Amino acid sequence: RARAAIDRHARMVADFPSPGISFKDLTPVLADADGLAAVVTALAESCAGADLIAGVDARGFLLGGAIARELGVGVVAVRKGGKLPPPVIGLDYDLEYGSARLEVPAAGLDLAGRSIAVVDDVLATGGTLVAAARLLQQAQAHVHGLAVIMELAELDGRGTLSAQLGTRVPVSGLCLG
Ligand code: PRP
Repeated sequence: RARAAIDRHARMVADFPSPGISFKDLTPVLADADGLAAVVTALAESCAGADLIAGVDARGFLLGGAIARELGVGVVAVRKGGKLPPPVIGLDYDLEYGSARLEVPAAGLDLAGRSIAVVDDVLATGGTLVAAARLLQQAQAHVHGLAVIMELAELDGRGTLSAQLGTRVPVSGLCLG
């Protein structure tokens, strides 16, 4: 059902972000009531057993709260650097050009020992999810799994995730883009 909703509503954008690439914009999928329900239900199945959901800045936020409600657990935002009040736990990571930083709160909730499923909209190179998972591990949480709507197969984000995180962190994607 999620796959059908994605096929029906995703918007194809030719030559974005670079020539020859056909980009699938998931915005209309999530803006459709049935599409959102189907995607959230399917992702929640992948996250079942986690006791906390982490949504990755920014589009992972749209999914994280809805999945958490479906599973009856809480949600936390994994934010880009500089957005959270101190104290934070942060991790800097390299991008193709430059670097980036993700942060989670270090006060107000204790991530240590929690079993956390990380959700985002798209797995591209895998750099963001590797950083999010490592950040949560740095906070002494257990990464229950990683779940996305779409994987860009040609970038082999899955390969990067298993190379960087090991194969014990399950990865699930609802479709290939
Ligand atoms: C996109 C997407 C993922 C990330 C995937 O976010 O929402 O978070 O890229 O790419 P990767 O697998 O190569 O790391 P983006 O960085 O565009 O940020 P945004 O959600 O704030 O727009």
